[in-house]
Amino acid sequence: MPQNINQTAVAERQAACYATPIVDADTSRIDDDGYKRYYSPANADQQDPEMEYLLGIDPAKDDLHLSDKQLHALSRFLPSLLCGEESAVVIFGHESKRMSKKAQDVIAASMAQLSLEEERHEIMLRRLADWLPVPGDIGDIHERAGGFFMKLGFASTSPEDRLAHISALDTCVSLTLGALVKRSDMTRSEPFMRIVNRIRSDESRHVRMCRKHLTELGVSDTQMEGAGKTVRGMFVDLMEPIADTFEDVGMDPDRLFSTLRTRTKL
Ligand SMILES: [Fe+2]
Ligand SMILES: [Fe+2]
Repeated sequence: MPQNINQTAVAERQAACYATPIVDADTSRIDDDGYKRYYSPANADQQDPEMEYLLGIDPAKDDLHLSDKQLHALSRFLPSLLCGEESAVVIFGHESKRMSKKAQDVIAASMAQLSLEEERHEIMLRRLADWLPVPGDIGDIHERAGGFFMKLGFASTSPEDRLAHISALDTCVSLTLGALVKRSDMTRSEPFMRIVNRIRSDESRHVRMCRKHLTELGVSDTQMEGAGKTVRGMFVDLMEPIADTFEDVGMDPDRLFSTLRTRTKL
């Protein structure tokens, strides 16, 4: 095992819907039992006390102050977000390796950092999702999310496409979580809101970093806007069937969908 591995921070992944092999050898390896497991670089979270706190939230022990109705709503909303996190871990990891090969080490390092942050989001959301009740329509939810990412994969014919699309998805997540923070009735749950706020602020930064990186790769603003429009439309299509979930936590889904549809930037 490499020296810089912290075994206490092992996160075993069982893909929610996007079981694509990950190439980031720095944080993953195949163990003797054949499972791919992911390890944190030593001290990564100790240098980030807020993340350390967030990764320590255990819904089985810590009272999240969420009602049954709110928990049920989350159980229908989180699986799609989890698919997005999985997808983002993979795509940023790929981009990091691709840039490493081109010896663009600064960009490669920043993409690796994004991949690691997405992995953190995934761990936080997975712990929550695994604890939530299983909704009756979970099969449909997974099927729609799987279809969304398959369609996104077909629409991405180059590394630049993939990066623009995952960045646009980050925007969707950021705007959705922003609406959750500002307009839902879940603000009583401080631990949950801290998770949401952290992911939201990370995603906003990811979008800024990706936009800069895409510009350096020669992708025009018009191309980025096109990618953003495509993905935001697909995201609204993904979320519309569970619009009642947003209503259940006091949000106005039409307002959110309108914000997503009318945005012009990546
Ligand atoms: Fe994320
Ligand atoms: Fe992100």
